[in-house]
Amino acid sequence: MTANDLNAIARALVAPGKGILAADESSPTIKKRFDSIGVESTEENRRDYREMLFSAPGSEAHISGVILYDETLRQKAKDGRRLVDLLESKGIVPGIKVDAGAKELAGHPGEKVTEGLDGLRERLAEYVDLGAKFAKWRAVIAITDSLPSRTCIEVNAHGLARYAALCQEAGIVPIVEPEVLMDGRHTIARSEAVTGEILNETFEQLHRQGVSLEGMLLKPNMVLSGYECPEQASVEEVAEATVRTFERFVPAAVPGIVFLSGGQSDVLASAHLSAMNRLDAARRPWQLSFSYGRALQAPALKAWSGKPENVGAGQAAYMHRAACNGAARTGAYDASMEQGAASVKLVSQD
Ligand code: 13P
Repeated sequence: MTANDLNAIARALVAPGKGILAADESSPTIKKRFDSIGVESTEENRRDYREMLFSAPGSEAHISGVILYDETLRQKAKDGRRLVDLLESKGIVPGIKVDAGAKELAGHPGEKVTEGLDGLRERLAEYVDLGAKFAKWRAVIAITDSLPSRTCIEVNAHGLARYAALCQEAGIVPIVEPEVLMDGRHTIARSEAVTGEILNETFEQLHRQGVSLEGMLLKPNMVLSGYECPEQASVEEVAEATVRTFERFVPAAVPGIVFLSGGQSDVLASAHLSAMNRLDAARRPWQLSFSYGRALQAPALKAWSGKPENVGAGQAAYMHRAACNGAARTGAYDASMEQGAASVKLVSQD
C-alpha cells in the first residue's frame, strides 16, 4: 500500500455526491438507540438493522463508505455472505472504528481522553485481513466556562496523531475525528475559538508524527451555537463560521472534511452542509462531505422499529436522508426535498 493508494481511498470516500454512513455505534450506544424503539439489542437484531441499511437498493449512489463496529465487521448477512462482502459488492468501502472510547482524563474533572493505542498495530493488521480499508478514532472535547484545558487538547491531539500514523503504516486511511461537543449554553463564537484550538493542535501533532495529509480525512464538528445557547446562529452563520475556521486551520492537502452530525436534527445537518457547499469554491480546497450517524439513521430506525415487514420503509427513510445529503454535497439541498418526510432527532452520542 503506497501513499498514492491511501490518497485514492481517501478520495473515493469523498467522491462527488457521496458521503459516509457512520454505523459504528458501540454496544451500549446501539442499545440506547434500540431502547428508543422498544427493540432488544441482541446480536441478531443488530445484524438485521445494519443489514437493512447496507443492502438498501441504490444506496451506493450517495454512500461511498460505511464505518463498522468490530462485531459488524465479523458478521454475516442472512444469506450467509459477510456484511463486508455485501458492501463491497455495491462498491461501498468498509471501514472500522478502532478507538476504545473516551475515558475520564486523570486530574481533569469533566474532561476525557480517548483510549485504544495499546495493541492497535496488531488490531489494525487483523482489520486489514477482515477487509477494512479505513478507520475512525474519535476524541471528545467538552466546552464549559473554564474548559477545555490545554492538557485535554494536547493529549487528545497526540492520541489522534499516533492512531493516524499507525493506520497509515498498516495501509488503512485514518479518519481523524476531534469532536468539540455542542452541549451547553456557549455562543457560536466560543465554539469557533475552541474548534480552531483543537484543529491547530491536531495538525501540529499530525505533522510532527509524519502523517501524510493526502492519505487521511478529517471528521470534525460543525461550528454551531451551544445547544442551550439562547441565541442560535442561522444556517448561513453556521456555514460561514465553519468554513472560516477550516480555512484557517486545515491544510489544503487534506482531501476531504467529512462532518459528524453531533446531535443536530437530520434536516439541519443537511441544510448546514448544503449552505457550506454554496460558499465561494475558492474557500473550499477540500471536499466538504458527511460522515453522519444519527442524521442518516434516525428516521430509518424509527420506520423499521424492529419489524421485518418494515424493512422497505426503513430503507426508504435511509435513502431519503442519503439523497438529501448527496444533494448537499453540491449545495443543491433544499427544504422542499423534505415534503412528506418525517424529521427525527436522536440524542444519544457515541
Ligand atoms: P453522529 O453523526 O451521530 O454525530 O455520529 C457520527 C460519529 O461517527 C460519531 O463518532
